[in-house]
Amino acid sequence: MSTDSAASAARAESAAVDRTARRGARPDPVVIDPTGADIHGEAARIRARGPVARIELPGGVTAWSITGYDEARQALSDSRFSKDPRKHWTAFVRGEIGMDFPLIGWILMENLTTMHGADHSRLRRLTAGAFTPRRVEKMRESIEKVTAELLDDIDTTPPGQAIDLKARFAHPLPSAVICDLFGIPVERRAEMLHGGEVNVNTTITPEESAANVEKWHQTILDFVDGKRRAMGDDLTSALIAAQDEDGSKLTDNELAGTIHLMLATGTEPVMNLIANAVCALLAHPEQRRLVQSGGVSWQQVIEETLRAEAPVAHLPFRFAVEDIELGGVTIAEGDPVLIGFAGVGRDPAVHGDTAAEFDCTRPDTSHLSFGHGIYRCIGKPLALLEAEIALSSLFRRFPDLTLAVSRAEIKPQETFIMNGVGSLPVLPKPR
Ligand code: HEM
Repeated sequence: MSTDSAASAARAESAAVDRTARRGARPDPVVIDPTGADIHGEAARIRARGPVARIELPGGVTAWSITGYDEARQALSDSRFSKDPRKHWTAFVRGEIGMDFPLIGWILMENLTTMHGADHSRLRRLTAGAFTPRRVEKMRESIEKVTAELLDDIDTTPPGQAIDLKARFAHPLPSAVICDLFGIPVERRAEMLHGGEVNVNTTITPEESAANVEKWHQTILDFVDGKRRAMGDDLTSALIAAQDEDGSKLTDNELAGTIHLMLATGTEPVMNLIANAVCALLAHPEQRRLVQSGGVSWQQVIEETLRAEAPVAHLPFRFAVEDIELGGVTIAEGDPVLIGFAGVGRDPAVHGDTAAEFDCTRPDTSHLSFGHGIYRCIGKPLALLEAEIALSSLFRRFPDLTLAVSRAEIKPQETFIMNGVGSLPVLPKPR
């Protein structure tokens, strides 16, 4: 949807919501589109109902979506929101959420994203140390090497021939980096990464979702088993070693869950950040000229992409551990909550009337796309370094890179959780 049509849809929605409120009725929840066909239009429709508004998830489950910047920041740093469905999602605890819930895969996972309190801190400590800015800076050379190899391969494309830049560059770059870190051999990578790709697809059936989590989990358990017999200088081996240390109490399921989380988060959002930035620059030639001539930095491009095209669009789940007043509503104890990062980055209360426009010269690019507070992204330094190397190297090697189709023809990824493209057809060397 264009910026203009999104704005007019939001205005129409606002007017309808006002009319409903004047009748004294509560507006119906916005029904979330599992295909993610119009992430930003949907976020605008939700915001028209308030910074914290009711949505209906696939499977008919009602939840809250936070699209206001201030409200999201408050929620992200409020320990009264838990991430543990097993303890704090009332409907789940009562057995009202069955295996037929389409997002069941997000509930069955046992990792940082479903933990609260001391369990969360225990697991976070085990991985966070590997991704500090100092540790990540040491990966620069190896990231540059992977990048150069992928670009060499793309360079063999004849002039005038299109390639899918997502499949050839935006995906293989971060996935190779994270698989190297976890010591995953090249021949096992596709199989190990597949579960994460399926998990973010919100058009799959509940059966597919549950089966995917089980298969993915087993694949990782098998991999860990093999690793135990051939330990190496990698993060999987470090996690296995931590199991034996006093205090870590890392179970096999948690270990597998942590690896699966790191593989997915290490790949999917970074891929979207790279693809979204390329797409935005190719669709805005004046901004692309500006960055190519040094008028704005790659850091500015990356920050503006994170703001205007948040790679994680709508993240499940948090649960209120008590009644919480936020943004003019009461979120009842046990209610599920999603943070609408895509909406948060475009909040007009922070970015004014131009919030929906991609503008790398914007002085204030405030966003929460890496989260905030105790659950904030562990991989932020790595993601920023990968994106900077990827984008600067790509445009240096292919200064005339263009889209092979119009921007409007580029289909979104089939998900409302992530914000990315299905594929990114480009001409590395236009004729
Ligand atoms: C552009 C890329 C990325 C984006 C936009 C992103 C976004 C996020 C967000 C929004 C959260 C917070 C979730 C919440 O509050 O519920 C998060 C958490 C997390 N991210 Fe990232 N991420 C990115 C890259 C990475 C990378 C490269 C890694 C791994 C190397 C990673 C690992 C994690 C982990 C483990 C958590 C969970 C932290 C916790 O629960 O304590 N992320 N990420």
